[in-house]
Amino acid sequence: MSYHYTGLINRYRDRLPIGPDTPVITLNEGNTPLIELRNLPGKIRRKVRILCKFEGLNPTGSFKDRGMTMAVTKAVEAGARAIICASTGNTSAAAAAYAARAGISCFVLIPEGKIALGKLSQAMMHGSTVIQIRGNFDDGMRLVQEVAQTVPVNIVNSINPYRLQGQKTLAFEVIEALGDVPDYHALPVGNAGNVSAHWIGYSEAAGMKTESMNGSFQYRTGGLSTRRPIMLGYQASGAAPFLRGKMVDQPETVATAIRIGHPVSWKLAWAAKNESGGWFNECSDEEILRAQKLLADTEGIFCEPASAASIAGILKDLELGVIGEGVTIVCTLTGHGLKDPDIAISQSSKPFLVDATRAAIEQVITANLPK
Ligand code: F0G
Repeated sequence: MSYHYTGLINRYRDRLPIGPDTPVITLNEGNTPLIELRNLPGKIRRKVRILCKFEGLNPTGSFKDRGMTMAVTKAVEAGARAIICASTGNTSAAAAAYAARAGISCFVLIPEGKIALGKLSQAMMHGSTVIQIRGNFDDGMRLVQEVAQTVPVNIVNSINPYRLQGQKTLAFEVIEALGDVPDYHALPVGNAGNVSAHWIGYSEAAGMKTESMNGSFQYRTGGLSTRRPIMLGYQASGAAPFLRGKMVDQPETVATAIRIGHPVSWKLAWAAKNESGGWFNECSDEEILRAQKLLADTEGIFCEPASAASIAGILKDLELGVIGEGVTIVCTLTGHGLKDPDIAISQSSKPFLVDATRAAIEQVITANLPK
């Protein structure tokens, strides 16, 4: 029997606000691998099971595709001819790709000079109208909401509830892969949509009602699990409103994807933390980059800096002992490392440059073989 995976809307149609005639816009996103780390737990001498949900393997290289297939599908269903978003990069890449797929226009607002090169190339390549602003993501988010009141554009940022609906499916996939929920689920927090979406997914999987669709749509809940995990949200220290307990006006971090000081899903994210008995913690830029490199070096998994905040965060909390031994932790690796080649190159050893001779090559190999 052949089986062709055709994206998360078709896969979870009965658990999403989708009708029989909804025109599905998909790039076969979702169904990403859940990879168990085999070397890192031993290296840090902790008896824990850590699995990475590698969202970098989505069609545009980040988890945003899960939300974008839903947002663009519903926009097209409603007759929209143009979408708009503010973005630190990944949302714009996904919006541009799904708009191209749907044959509609896409406008993206990005902070000048503060988005990774791979993401910028995606938005440009898919033919969206890229508007760089002399401001940060939070400025862009405010402007998008203002502009959408007067021009006919459909907002596809995560204030669009369909985005979180798509992103909630990650929880379903984790439960199906493990046969149960993990003890902990860790992820980076920027605009805080994803942690909220994870929580909606885990809650609905366990049969709990959520207010995410305001009861306006009937779809199936329950039947996948009986409990929910503890949610752990990690922020970059320079952009950590959830740690400060208030909005941050000048966010700064090397992890540009989460360089956000005024998260839109503020309330939902606090609810996820509180209802799950979880917590937020922060990581310095150095800790984030060290975790990104460690994961790449010891496990062969290349995620972008923002994604590595989940690894940096659990390493810190394991060290502190607030996460004990014998538990299963899932980390969402939100985006692929190839998105940000500049950062990767800047923290790796330089290539050798030698003459094109056998002797020169042998010399390098001999010096670098395992002792
Ligand atoms: N990781 C990556 C790689 C991201 O791109 C983002 C957000 C996050 C984590 C944080 O997720 O905002 O739901 O808390 N990127 C958005 C963007 C803001 O515009 O691409 P969040």
